[in-house]
Amino acid sequence: KVYTDYFFYEPAFNTHDGGYIPLEAPNVKQQKLKVPELLTPDKETDTDMYYTVISQAGEAQIMPGKATKTWGYNQALLGKTILFKRGKNIHVTVKNELPELTTYHWHGLNVPGDIDGGCHTPVYPGESKVLNFKCDQPAATLWLHAHPCPSTAEQVWHGLATAVVVKDEHEATLPIPRNYGVDDIPVILQDRRFHEDNQWDYKADYDPDGVQGPTAMINGTVNPYFDVTTQKVRLRLLDGANRREWRLHFSDDLEFTQIAGDGSLLTHPVNFTHLMITCAERQEIVVDFGQYKPGDEVVLYSDDVPIMHFRIHEFAEDNSVIPDTLFEMNTPKVTENTPVRKVVMSGMDEEVALDGKKFDMERIDAKQTMGNCEIWEVTNTNDCENGMVHPFHMHGCQFEVLDRDGHAPYPNETGLKDTIGVNPDETVRFKAWFDHPGVFMYHCHIIEHEDGGMMAQIQVDDPDHPQEFHLTKMDDL
Ligand code: C2O
Ligand code: CU
Ligand code: CU
Repeated sequence: KVYTDYFFYEPAFNTHDGGYIPLEAPNVKQQKLKVPELLTPDKETDTDMYYTVISQAGEAQIMPGKATKTWGYNQALLGKTILFKRGKNIHVTVKNELPELTTYHWHGLNVPGDIDGGCHTPVYPGESKVLNFKCDQPAATLWLHAHPCPSTAEQVWHGLATAVVVKDEHEATLPIPRNYGVDDIPVILQDRRFHEDNQWDYKADYDPDGVQGPTAMINGTVNPYFDVTTQKVRLRLLDGANRREWRLHFSDDLEFTQIAGDGSLLTHPVNFTHLMITCAERQEIVVDFGQYKPGDEVVLYSDDVPIMHFRIHEFAEDNSVIPDTLFEMNTPKVTENTPVRKVVMSGMDEEVALDGKKFDMERIDAKQTMGNCEIWEVTNTNDCENGMVHPFHMHGCQFEVLDRDGHAPYPNETGLKDTIGVNPDETVRFKAWFDHPGVFMYHCHIIEHEDGGMMAQIQVDDPDHPQEFHLTKMDDL
């Protein structure tokens, strides 16, 4: 079976927003896709990995002519890919060399609240901090991004985002591409507007429903091409845009196979010709270029705009088959007694709210006991005609989607997820449990909605080790 539709409600696609900014094919010649290097650990032993991650300002050559002033991790723009091996103790020294405070949020990582890097853990300019935690979750593509309230959106727009890859022994046994940089690459989808002298101007482009620009930027490259030297290529798609959702398809309606979502492999591979990704989601796909010959070009589109080119070179034949079963979900069972928690995302523009309220750093909105599974029922009250898809995200956990308005979830929602697009007038149910204590945010991942208050926080208590959690006050920042 091959799916050919985008599943989400068509009237809610961003193309219908009042302030929608269509992508435009860039007027620059094709440039080699920047594939972020793997960040070199400061040290690695059989049991431990040590990294240093520095937030810094710099200049990146993105367009012909003037360089763009940007922010990044250990480099001018975006960052190197950070690899965590499951089972190891990780030690990350985070350092802030920016002129303002930032935080280091590990989107999708199962860690305690004080490591998670939400808005209660600011790192001030000139300061550094060491984060120690154990990596214990399935292989997945996660990401690191800034999360200071309420300037997450602006800092991500400046470039503070990078891919994080978790590896485990199970994934390592599967016959799927995993030669990083060759047949396994992150594809970070973002969009920007280049103003005079190729500069970005967040304030000039501000829109409370999410800042957009007409130029697609992939791994910090405009109009990229990628040299295909293997028959199969694994793309770790990450929607790192502030607001834009991407509706992806290839030239010739080339089929591809999704193998992973946000927090794990999918239980079974799913074949598509069209695929929509909402903000902060990850989708790993394997593209088989077997029908092409050297010199051919395959184009990736979002809606009808070309955003990336694949230049086909000589490759050895590859008869490997993606296994029918990729991952086993081993999640807590739902019983009659499983508590149900309702969450409501409402409004648009400045009116956005979560459960009718704006985010308040000093208010705990909900509590859940560590280890306990609960059903979360998340409703988007926008109306179908003028509303939008709000991508709902939870920190500190990975959840399992149960249903959408009582119907089966989309076919690519079988694995663990931490972000899910909720259509207008729809209720999505999933089960969620926390492995670590702390205070965790949950919010819409259209980042201007998050900064605009469509966010709340939950306190997760470990009954065996009761703890007081320190809430940073807005006034202290
Ligand atoms: Cu990707 Cu609260 O964040
Ligand atoms: Cu997050
Ligand atoms: Cu939203």
